[in-house]
Amino acid sequence: MNSATALPSASRRDFVVQPGGGMQGRIRVPGDKSISHRALLLGAMARGETQVSNFLESQDCLATLNALRVLGVQMDHAPTGHVRIQGAGADGLRVPVRTLDCGNSGTSMRLLSGVLAGQPFAATLDGDDSLRHRPMQRVIEPLTRMGARFDSTAGRAPLTVHGCRPLNSLRYKLPVASAQVKSAILLAGLQATGETWVQEPAVSRDHTERMLQLLGCRLLCDGDWLGVVGGNELHATNITVPGDLSAAAFFLVGAAICPGAAVTVEGVGVNPTRDGVLRLLQRMGAVIHVQFLPQLGAEPAANIEVRGGDLQGIEITPADVPLAIDELPILLVAAALAQGQTRLYGAAELRVKESDRLAAMAAGLHTLGVSVELFTDGMQITGVGQFGGGEIDSCGDHRIAMAFVMAALRATRPVRVRDCRNVDTSFPGFAETARKVGLDLRVTETL
Ligand code: S3P
Repeated sequence: MNSATALPSASRRDFVVQPGGGMQGRIRVPGDKSISHRALLLGAMARGETQVSNFLESQDCLATLNALRVLGVQMDHAPTGHVRIQGAGADGLRVPVRTLDCGNSGTSMRLLSGVLAGQPFAATLDGDDSLRHRPMQRVIEPLTRMGARFDSTAGRAPLTVHGCRPLNSLRYKLPVASAQVKSAILLAGLQATGETWVQEPAVSRDHTERMLQLLGCRLLCDGDWLGVVGGNELHATNITVPGDLSAAAFFLVGAAICPGAAVTVEGVGVNPTRDGVLRLLQRMGAVIHVQFLPQLGAEPAANIEVRGGDLQGIEITPADVPLAIDELPILLVAAALAQGQTRLYGAAELRVKESDRLAAMAAGLHTLGVSVELFTDGMQITGVGQFGGGEIDSCGDHRIAMAFVMAALRATRPVRVRDCRNVDTSFPGFAETARKVGLDLRVTETL
């Protein structure tokens, strides 16, 4: 699009999907979002040059990249998924000349808070309206105990982090399982005196721990406590990011809900602290074939094939939740088509994501003709044979938008998903990939 015809970014982007569609083929999805953020942050804190390939070119990861540039980190970025970072160590950052804009990205804001907590200067982090409503007290509290000081509006962004060097060490039990909070504390712990330890109530994704070890950092382990030693230096190394299982999940579940479908997603990360979506789909009766590939750096990878068939309702318990936290919206679409009932509980965290995902999913499923009972920490869904159709509000949330696009595969009328611009925060090229496997998807822009 040239500048004469460009629409202002304030325009609303909807996805209009015709009912049915194929779901056949082999696809690749963009690089993993969580690992792309960490490659930039740890590459910046390491000494030497880190080359990142298959970096996710999404708005969220570019927010981290731009923030690190404002903090003085030299990065060459070719928008083909390649970033070269000149790391100058944890003390190589400089005073930012402006606010660090995290956009829609909670990972950027929380992990950067951990890095900034140990710096000898103050920096302000801000974001869009969704991010300004998300809870930041969960990082403010432990990082304050370590010696940093925060200005915020009742625990919400904008946040000004007044760093402290060196930080105090900490022994901290996380009240909720959160890889972002765990990572923020570990990144601060590298800049503290002595040992910093964390414990979570349930296992969350361990990408930070794996990458720290890849960069030569010694991790401490004592039962379910995990620790780092302050002053431990990171050594630059090259990082290849696997495909994002959370992005692949839309197509894997899309295939599972279409009898006769067969979709393979190639080169996807299958870290066992992230692959709950595969286990839950299997429990619902889906046929999944995982062909392991050589490990990419510290992360396992595979080609994953899913074939469509009949699914059964299941119980999704609190222990399942952190391992599939970002895939629960699309899994709820599958649950709504499964025989019998599905009960999800222990998932109150979904209420504080990019939108209130429990409310957004319940409202959208209701529009499609599904009977949903909403709880404070989950929902009970009674499966239907097919969806109706209609207009669904994504609430500006990328994962809600993509989940309801897939619902159209089993709809009887067109599905219009409103407000899909934020799909670009995690999955640039989603619409093209969806068309490639057979969805009839049209993008509309409304002023
Ligand atoms: C992420 C952790 C999860 C997840 C988010 C990415 C990460 O958030 O939902 O999309 O990269 O660490 P929480 O730590 O809030 O559970």
